[in-house]
Amino acid sequence: MPLIGHAVPLVRDRLAFLQDLRRHGPIVRFSVGPKTVTAINSPDLLQEMLTTKSRHFSKGLLFEKLKLFGNDALPVAEGSRHLTRRRLLQPAFHHQQIDHYIRTMYTTVDPMIAAWRSTGPLDLKTEMQLMTQNVVMAALFSTTPDRETGHAILKSVDTLFAAALRRALLPLPLLERLPTPGNRRARRAGRVMRAAVGQIIADHLAHPDAHDDIVSLLLSARDQDGTPLADEDILSEVTGLLAAGSETTAVTLTWLFHELGRNPDLERRLHDEVDAVLTDEPLTTQSLTRLTFTRRLVNESLRMYSPAWLVTRQATEPVRLADVDLRVGEDIVWSPYTLHRDPALYPDPLRFDPDRWLPERPQPPKGAFLPFGAGKRQCMGNEFALAEATLITALIASRWRLRPVPGPAVRPIGAITLHPSALHMTAQARTPGRRHEEAA
Ligand code: HEM
Repeated sequence: MPLIGHAVPLVRDRLAFLQDLRRHGPIVRFSVGPKTVTAINSPDLLQEMLTTKSRHFSKGLLFEKLKLFGNDALPVAEGSRHLTRRRLLQPAFHHQQIDHYIRTMYTTVDPMIAAWRSTGPLDLKTEMQLMTQNVVMAALFSTTPDRETGHAILKSVDTLFAAALRRALLPLPLLERLPTPGNRRARRAGRVMRAAVGQIIADHLAHPDAHDDIVSLLLSARDQDGTPLADEDILSEVTGLLAAGSETTAVTLTWLFHELGRNPDLERRLHDEVDAVLTDEPLTTQSLTRLTFTRRLVNESLRMYSPAWLVTRQATEPVRLADVDLRVGEDIVWSPYTLHRDPALYPDPLRFDPDRWLPERPQPPKGAFLPFGAGKRQCMGNEFALAEATLITALIASRWRLRPVPGPAVRPIGAITLHPSALHMTAQARTPGRRHEEAA
């Protein structure tokens, strides 16, 4: 439409709009108000943009607005700053470190899961968010907040995420500075985050030898000339990790249990697997590798309900993708959600089928499964998240059967992450020895 372009369908149903673009080909231009945006829909072009030609692109509009969380933390930093920070933090995510985190993940979430009661419905997304937030905090910052502090941090992250998305979809810098209720809420949330993260850093400074974690790594880092990181930078990195690492895994788990709630056969197979594997406590790295069906459930949830459903880039130099010349400053979007539901890449894409990941089945083409992105900006917490989601799924399934509470149909909402409109489930206790009858 003149002046507003495709803004109406985009605002009305973002997920449907992006999916519809796929019909128009691998690279499609659309307009939002005065802006022209280019959507990339093919695995080949995505590989090109995210890997071989990545130096021609910055992270783009959405990530620019996510700077609300503080200075240029790793997920939003650019150029040499990004490279230095990534090199600094990478050791905390090495494969061997994940083994070490599994023990902490277990001791953090097992008591939380054991404390559930059968009495009332659980707000599943909130429960999962509290769990994954505690995991990131315990494993990476050696701290576990009480439930009240946990809730306050969650609320602040949600508020900042909502403000960032609003600003990305309607980029009016003047509006961002006005004292509107939304802007005031975002400022308040920023203060709560700073206070919570500031406390973690203060604890580390007070007991410098007590921790061996990512906060200590940041505190002891030195530039080439021996200068330590500025306090503000440390605060931003810790806040950035908390924001990047909690909600994404939480919504993956929420969707997974939503699908199990309506697929009793899959639920029974999960129960069989965890009953056979989780015979020894605590859960170890070795037991995780034997949870192959659980892992396929995680993969399938990441495919159908990719948490990072919308990713942006911006061309920083003239660059050609397919037969399209992108100008400097041109905005680009791509959607793992759209890619993963493409019938040309996945047979029967709207069916939740964990067995499509069986090694003997034909696998999707290279670059067709990108829940964690690709290339130099690929998610740094991917192994951490996969281990965590598998572990939490198995621990919940070993104790509880989650049943959906009747109510309105659950719809996907494309906010910063892709979350369910609402999901309340009741927890039915599973007792050893009677597990199969309970699942029947
Ligand atoms: C299921 C869970 C997760 C999903 C789906 C996910 C997805 C993503 C995606 C798609 C990106 C790249 C965005 C882009 O290309 O612009 C990203 C970046 C990042 N993620 Fe994750 N993530 C998850 C969990 C985590 C966890 C648990 C952590 C850390 C504890 C984490 C830390 C990061 C960081 C630091 C970056 C920025 C990397 C860089 O720019 O160099 N993520 N994530």
